Amino acid sequence: MTESIQHPLLRVRDLSVTFPARSGKAPVLAVDRVSFDIGRAQTLALVGESGSGKTTTGRAILQLQASSGGSVQLLGHELGQLSRDGLRSMRRHMQFVLQNPYSSLHPRMTVAQTLAEPLRVHRCVPAESVTARVAELMTLVGLDPAMVSRYPHEFSGGQRQRIVIARALAVSPDFVVCDEPVSALDVSTQAQIVALLKSLQTRLGLSYLFIAHDLALVRQVAHRIAVMFAGQIVEMGAADQVYGNPSHPYTRALLDAVPVPDPVLQRKKLSESSADVQFHGLRPKAGPCVFGEDHAQSGTACWHDVGAGHGVSCRFWPTPAA
Ligand SMILES: Nc1ncnc2c1ncn2[C@@H]1O[C@H](COP(=O)(O)OP(=O)(O)O)[C@@H](O)[C@H]1O
Ligand SMILES: [Mg+2]
Repeated sequence: MTESIQHPLLRVRDLSVTFPARSGKAPVLAVDRVSFDIGRAQTLALVGESGSGKTTTGRAILQLQASSGGSVQLLGHELGQLSRDGLRSMRRHMQFVLQNPYSSLHPRMTVAQTLAEPLRVHRCVPAESVTARVAELMTLVGLDPAMVSRYPHEFSGGQRQRIVIARALAVSPDFVVCDEPVSALDVSTQAQIVALLKSLQTRLGLSYLFIAHDLALVRQVAHRIAVMFAGQIVEMGAADQVYGNPSHPYTRALLDAVPVPDPVLQRKKLSESSADVQFHGLRPKAGPCVFGEDHAQSGTACWHDVGAGHGVSCRFWPTPAA
């Protein structure tokens, strides 16, 4: 279902995560056979509504969440098969930037302590070079190194997210999962942090899985876009293709929701136009799909090419009015 990059930095195939049944509720298939590649210095944006499985996908890739099936290869290493030590040493290649910069920073640690910790854990630099490396990281993310002895509460939200980014970059990773990295920030600060992430990608050759619920936001950063719905990727392609020729009705619904600046209105519009009303509970029926293929007969996955490297799933498709 995905155009293969010859030597991708990250290769994800049929990744699935099931959460076990809890108190009378059915098990949750949060991630359902997700596949994609991310090349070096490339960004794949993973976009979908809250609850679609984006965070779980990111956590499963980073081996912070057990998967129930599939394969994750980073730099050619099958992460699920590494020993504890092997996984520990791969951790410096893959890092996480989370949505809320306040809760992800320890309130009683200074910035210097926060940035020095990963350097010590992964023994990235000799002890005598830690201070210099911390100052270098501050400069890298656009903060004054003179502020290293301050605590998180002394910074603005945008500055705190810069600290979180600096901490992720301390170990010189190749791959960073950015999980809604600007959702908690005001609009002007969002643009600054997105610009920072882009310039860091260029300077350091970073690869990103950029998770967002907002298709407009990722336009500035994504090389490729994967649209996620109910644990599955329903459309994937180059950013130009997905914006220029959105082919799945759910992608169109997300795009329709984009220009509404009021988040309450936006949510209302989105839920009216798409997911809750039209998609939930849809399952493929016997017989031909919307593309005229009978998957039960062909035995192939419900995935159709609509352009070179641009594909769409026919699995979640609103049924036409009878
Ligand atoms: N630890 C967990 N235990 C049980 N269910 C979970 C857990 N984490 C997430 N889920 C469920 O998995 C689905 C996907 O969640 P999540 O990956 O957080 O979505 P997103 O990041 O797209 O908002 C949701 O239905 C959510 O309720
Ligand atoms: Mg999430």
